[in-house]
Formats: sequence, C-alpha cells, structure tokens
Amino acid sequence: MQWIQARVTQETNFYGKCTPVDLVKKYGSPLYVYNERILRERCQDIKRLIKDPDFIVNYSAKANSNLALLKIVKDEGCYVDAMSPGEIHVQLQAGFKPEQILYIGNNVSPAEMEYVINQGIPVSVDSLSQLELYGKVSPYSNVVVRFNTGVGAGHHHKVVTGGDKTKFGIETAFIPEVKAILNKYHLRLSGINQHIGSLFMDTDSYISGVQALLDVAFQFPDLEFIDLGGGFGIPYHKYENEPRLDLAALSEKMSKVLTDWVIQYGKKIKFKVEPGRYLVAECGILLGTVHTIKTNYHTKYVGTDIGFNVLMRPVLYNSHHDIELYRSSNALSRNQEAVTIVGNICESGDIIAADRKLPKIFEEDIIGVLDAGAYGYSMASNYNNRLRPAEVLITSHGDDLLIRRRETLEDLVRHF
Ligand code: LLP
Repeated sequence: MQWIQARVTQETNFYGKCTPVDLVKKYGSPLYVYNERILRERCQDIKRLIKDPDFIVNYSAKANSNLALLKIVKDEGCYVDAMSPGEIHVQLQAGFKPEQILYIGNNVSPAEMEYVINQGIPVSVDSLSQLELYGKVSPYSNVVVRFNTGVGAGHHHKVVTGGDKTKFGIETAFIPEVKAILNKYHLRLSGINQHIGSLFMDTDSYISGVQALLDVAFQFPDLEFIDLGGGFGIPYHKYENEPRLDLAALSEKMSKVLTDWVIQYGKKIKFKVEPGRYLVAECGILLGTVHTIKTNYHTKYVGTDIGFNVLMRPVLYNSHHDIELYRSSNALSRNQEAVTIVGNICESGDIIAADRKLPKIFEEDIIGVLDAGAYGYSMASNYNNRLRPAEVLITSHGDDLLIRRRETLEDLVRHF
C-alpha cells in the first residue's frame, strides 16, 4: 500500500498494525475507524484541566455514543451528559451509574421528565416552564438549572448556545423567578450549568463564561457543583500546522479564577466540564473509496461513497476536515491538483471538500477524512436509503476490532 498523503496518521501511528486499505477490504467502505490510545489520551488531557480530586469530566455523549467508546471513556474515569432517553439507555448499558449521568434536557415532555427522574438521574432544566414541570413531577428534591449568562462562542452560528440569539438556558434576569419556583416546590438547587457553544480555540470567551456563571452562583449558597460547559476545540487544519488549544494555559487561568471564587463563596464545591468533541474528534477517521473522477465545466470532481448521510458536518456547517490519501495500486501522483471531493447523495451540496489541493487522485484510491470521531456517526442518517457504515476500533495494542456492524438492507425495512 502507498501512503500518498498520510503525514498525520503516520506520525500518530493511527492505524496500529493495520492499514486503511486492508481495513476497507475487511470491513467494507465507507468505514469509521477509531483509535483507542488517542481517545484515552484526550480523556487524560482534559482531566488535568482542573487540579482538584473532585473535578469531574462529564463526556457529552452526543458527539459519539458508540458503546465501546463509552466504555473506554468510563474506564478513564469520566462521567457523562445525556440529552435524550436514547442516550441514557446506551449509557446505562455502558455501565454508567444513574448518578454519573447528568440529563441536560431541552423542551422535554412530562413523560420524558418522569422517565429520567424515575431512573434516579440528576436533571438540568433550561427554562422556567421546565423548572415548574420538574417541581410538579418531583417536589422536595434536588434540581440543576442551566443558565444563559449572555456569553456565547462557537465555530458556526448554529452551534453557539449562549448569548441573546439562542433558545438555551435561563437568562440571568430571571433569577428571582427561578428562586420563587424553587421555593414553591421545595426544590434544592444542587447545581448550575451552562454551555456557551461548540468549538473555541481562543480561551477568552470560555473564561468570560466561567466568570459570568460564577457570579450567578453567588446567588445560590447551597450548591454542590458548578458545570462550566464544553466546547473545547481541536485543530481541524492539521496539514496547515494549526496549533492545539492551549489547555495548560487555560488550566492556569481557570485555577486562579476558581480558587479566588471558592474563597469568596466560603464552601467547597465540585467543578465539572462537559466536553464532547475534544475527547472523540481526533480519535476517529472516516475512510471512503473513490469510485469516479470526472470534470464538469472545469471543476474536477472526485466521486466517493462518503455522502453527507455518513458525515454531515461539511454540508451543515461548511466545516473543514483534512483529507488523507492511501492507494493499493502502483499509480504515482507526481503533482498536486485542486479537486472537489463529493459523495454519492443526490444533492449538489453533497461536498466533503471543495477546491482542495491534493496529490493526483485515482479511482479506487482510499480517502481518509480526519477528525471525524465527533458528530460523525452520531449525525449519520439513512438519507437516500443509504446504509450507515460499520465502526472499527484500533485497540491500544494496534489490532482491529469491529465495534458496530454495517447496516444491512434488511435494517431499512425492520420497522414496517
Ligand atoms: N454540553 C451541551 C449542553 C451541549 O449542547 C454540547 C454540544 C456540549 C456540551 C458539547 O460540546 P462540544 O464540547 O462537543 O463542543 N454538531 C456540531 C456540534 C454541536 C454541539 C451541540 N452541543 C458540530 O459537528 O460541530
């Protein structure tokens, strides 16, 4: 096999004892491949963010809820966030205890609220109306409230979840109303949380958000924990040597802010964060196969089996993913050329990478879409009645292990 463009995976020994060409031969294409060592390293990185034995990393499992990956995250000592009964179901199967799950609901039905409370899972509510509902279903109990302190950040407006243009959280002006509902139903506010948005590389906005949430916390003297949110970014432009998020600098800034705050609050408290992408994005690569190369009106299209049913991020957010290239034939790529890499879905927007300069690509080449572990499979669909791919883990020993089978045509008619 020729590693035509593969610097990043070669440097990290991503494929262990396997090669991408052999993996596709064995498991088919397209194929999600995850690296266990990298996943464990990322969990350990983020656990060092706050140097306090009570610090908890709640993995936001919407980024990737494959059972095998959840078990690894649990093994690394993280807890989890859930957004739906489905996520709870999978997390319980992965071995998380109810008290290790935080349910961060948004517009949930009374039945769903009851289901979560009956499982013994702590619930965070993010509107006055949902706080009322919680009080009705479970008076005389603990509750968590998600605030929107007005600070927002993110890689795209669709994923900014704090500030004045989003449906999330309770704005701080409503703190008196929150207190009134807590009193009315004899609820104890055991925790507060926020999430300002997804993917920051510059830590200033996160720190502003932390400070704003800590200010809110002063209004509630009996808290057990404060959950500071997720959003920690990863470098998607590795081929341009984009620097990593400086977690050490962030850790230093946060330690100072949190230590000063604890002195003023006068009570020891648990701090949590809820990262999704940071833990799983870089441990995942999506492999696909080039089936057609054509030129239409001066644009050279590389036609693959990676439709946006398999990876939606480029279409939904115009997101960049680096591309690697692997080849089983002896063909040589002496020059680079600009190509547009597309999938097999019948929409013109089905583009993975537009006008990307890469070594000359041939039919049957294997493409690797990097940093696809977060919001890849978890956002995949059956659009065009395409099947969702298999998922394979490269274990810490470098071996390949199937962790979810490819869907079959039968799966498409299972519910009829
Ligand atoms: N906590 C809450 C309440 C969230 O809503 C999210 C993400 C997270 C934590 C984790 O955020 P992260 O650390 O992964 O940035 N599909 C988009 C991202 C959507 C994020 C939704 N909420 C993407 O592919 O970029």
